Parts: sequence; C-alpha cells; structure tokens
Amino acid sequence: MASKTLSTAPRLARASIRPLQCLRKAPACAQRRAISAYGYEQAKALTFQDYGDPPAVLSLHGHSISPPHGDLMTLRFLASPINPADINQIQGVYPSKPTFTTSLGTAKPIAVAGNEGVAEVIALGSKPKEAGFKKGDWVIMNGPGFGTWRTHASARVEDVVRLDDAMREGISAVQAGTVSINPCTAYRMLRDFVHLKEGEFFIQNGANSGVGRAAIQLGKQWGLKSINVIRSRDDTTAEDRLKKELKDIGADVVITDAELQSQGVKDMAKEWTNGGRAPIRLALNCVNGKAATAMAKLLASEAHFVTYGAMSKQPLTIPASMLIFKDIHFHGFWVSKWAQRHPEDKKKTVADVLDMTRKGTFKDTPFDKIAWEWETKGEELISKVKDTLEGYREGKGVFVFGRT
Ligand SMILES: NC(=O)c1ccc[n+]([C@@H]2O[C@H](COP(=O)([O-])OP(=O)(O)OC[C@H]3O[C@@H](n4cnc5c(N)ncnc54)[C@H](OP(=O)(O)O)[C@@H]3O)[C@@H](O)[C@H]2O)c1
Repeated sequence: MASKTLSTAPRLARASIRPLQCLRKAPACAQRRAISAYGYEQAKALTFQDYGDPPAVLSLHGHSISPPHGDLMTLRFLASPINPADINQIQGVYPSKPTFTTSLGTAKPIAVAGNEGVAEVIALGSKPKEAGFKKGDWVIMNGPGFGTWRTHASARVEDVVRLDDAMREGISAVQAGTVSINPCTAYRMLRDFVHLKEGEFFIQNGANSGVGRAAIQLGKQWGLKSINVIRSRDDTTAEDRLKKELKDIGADVVITDAELQSQGVKDMAKEWTNGGRAPIRLALNCVNGKAATAMAKLLASEAHFVTYGAMSKQPLTIPASMLIFKDIHFHGFWVSKWAQRHPEDKKKTVADVLDMTRKGTFKDTPFDKIAWEWETKGEELISKVKDTLEGYREGKGVFVFGRT
C-alpha cells in the first residue's frame, strides 16, 4: 500500500518550509503554500485513528512526502468524491479496510479516508518512468483502500491506472475522478447478468443515485427501457422536479417507493410494458427492505435481481415462492471484486464511459463541489462529509482540489 511508503521529512525541513518560503517570496506564499523545499512535498489528509462516526473520528492531518525514488511517484489529487462506501469504511462496516500506518508521522497508526479520485503525477522515481508515466499524467486508483481524501500521496505503479492522453481528452477532473466506481457498476450490472434485447425493461431503486443515473443513461444508449424507483419527498414540487430530471436523462418511467408498494402497481406495470408483453427481466437493488421486495414482485419468471447496496440498512426479504415458482435469480455485485478479477475489462469500461462523456451522451451526476484549498480548515471539510450523511441530497459531494 502506498501510504506505508510515505516518509516524513526531516524535522527541520518540515518545521521550516513554510516560513522560509514566506520570507523569500511573500506574494507567491499568499497564493500557494510552500512547495518542495529540498524536494519534500507538503500534504494534508483527512484521516482517522479508529473506526466510528465520520464527524467524530476524522481529522485533518499535515505531513511531508519525501522526493520519489525507485518505484515511487508523488501524486497531487484533483478531485475525490464522497461515496456511501467511504462512509461505511470509516464506520468500519465496509469489507475493504484501509491501511493504518504510522508512516504519515503519527505515533498511533492512522488511515486516510476515501477510495475514489483522480490525481496528477507531479514527480517520479525511475520505475514509474520506465513504465511510461510522466509528469502531468492523470491517474485513477487501481482498487479501494488507497485513501483519496488528501492533497498529495506517494504511490507505486500498481496502485494506479494511467489515463492515457486519448482517454483524458475533453474530460474534467470531476468526470475522471468519479468514473471508476458508479458508472462501471451500472455498466456491468446491465451487461453481465442477463442479455437484455433492445426494447426490454429493467427496473431499479435508488434511481437518483450516481449508479442509478448511470444505469438510466447507459440503458437508454443501449436501447433498453427503465422503470425507476425513487424515495417519496414530502415536498411534491421537489419530487416532480426529480422525476423530470431523471426523465430528461432517459428514464422511461419514474415512480416513488410509495407508488411501487401501492395496490395498483401491477396494473400500472402492465401499462408500461405493453400489457406485460415486454417482460421485466432485470432488477437493480441498492435499497433492500419492503421496497426491494415490491420491486422483485414485478419481475418476469426467471428474471435476474442484482443487489449491490443497502441504503435502507434493512435486510432483503425474499418470499420462497419467488425462488420456487418464479425461479428468480438473486445475485450480488461488488465492482471492486469484479475489477480485481477483470482488470482489462475495467479499463475498457472506464474508457467506454469516458468516450460517451466526451461525446456528450453520458451526463455528469449532479455534484456539490467542496473546494479544498491549502488553507481550507479541517472543520469545513469534515462538516461537508457530515452533510452527506443526511438523506435527500441534490448532488454528490466531491472534493475539488485547488491550490494545494
Ligand atoms: N456494489 C458495488 O460495487 C457498488 C458500487 C457503487 C455503489 N454502490 C452502492 O450503491 C448505492 C448508491 O451509491 P451512489 O454513490 O450511487 O449513491 P449516491 O449518489 O450518494 O446517492 C445515494 C442514494 O441512496 C439513496 N438513499 C439514501 N438513504 C436512503 C435510505 N435510507 N433508504 C433508501 N434510499 C436511500 C438516496 O436517495 P434520496 O435522494 O432519496 O436520499 C440516493 O438515491 C450505495 O449503497 C453504494 O454503497 C455499490
């Protein structure tokens, strides 16, 4: 793990870099914090010592990164989202654990939060150069657990995937920093469980999530029709606005979880599916609880039901008849495991989504930009993480790094 290899700068360099630069170059110092005295990079990271509630356990930690040598390169992060899995990881309930290390200069081991993001290569040792990396390259993480909520990091070649110039062309940092988890998850779930023909339906809950919006758009491009379930809003104007938003990106039908569980839903489903002649053969579930069971009831015999999240924190309850008489196939999907098993397919999937993004056929998920400058206080960043724990958000929180 890269963070194990981070070393702290000598005490003198660490303590004196900023003041030295400020004395020498006062105007530049006001714009940008000190860079690389003796080649050391100053970094800040949102870290935690113990698992727990994110606002209670996170803190902003400053440290130095040595000049890269051998197989190391130094990264400067550009954009890192706050995904539900990141929160679960800090809480200690996510299967992929981060690396706890003392190499960031603390007495007790700490871990850097965040799993997804895009970074720029700013310095390299010999091995990354031999592997074709150069300064200015953009890289995304090769797997979970790297720690992306930080300004800089030291990484090895195997920690990252380089976005070549063609992949990067016309792509913003936020687009690159959010491509590898949600769009890939939607893409694979639509492709890998059942072959849906053009005009066939899938149904999904959490339809306004990053994954849900990606599924709507990919499905549309591939000629599929979608039935999309969102949570009801007390504010009906906001609910209508959300329904319209999803229809604007390609959703055929958008209903609330209350409508899904209402008496007349089977008749409504018949209407949507041409009297049932267009069977619903795939369901994507990230919610569970009663709403997920109601969704499964709309599936055709021998359809596939894929669970990939647990937003309601409720169990998934399946009536035995669905297994015995309807022979519905229930699956789970975890993109991290899939990517580990299919690294080349992962790269192709990312390239394909970036290509659609470049062409304008795949739109960004609405996001809430959280500016992270060198001066940004830890409390500000942590309060933004806390905000993401509240439901009914307008957009995904994404750290966008400025002058760090
Ligand atoms: N298995 C995998 O490989 C994989 C990969 C990516 C994501 N995921 C999972 O997919 C899910 C969505 O992730 P994302 O990043 O796309 O999400 P996101 O953009 O952050 O959106 C969160 C979604 O969860 C819904 N939600 C929040 N609290 C809920 C609750 N108590 N009950 C029902 N729905 C609730 C939100 O609906 P409201 O707007 O109504 O609040 C929204 O649709 C998460 O569970 C995540 O862990 C899994």
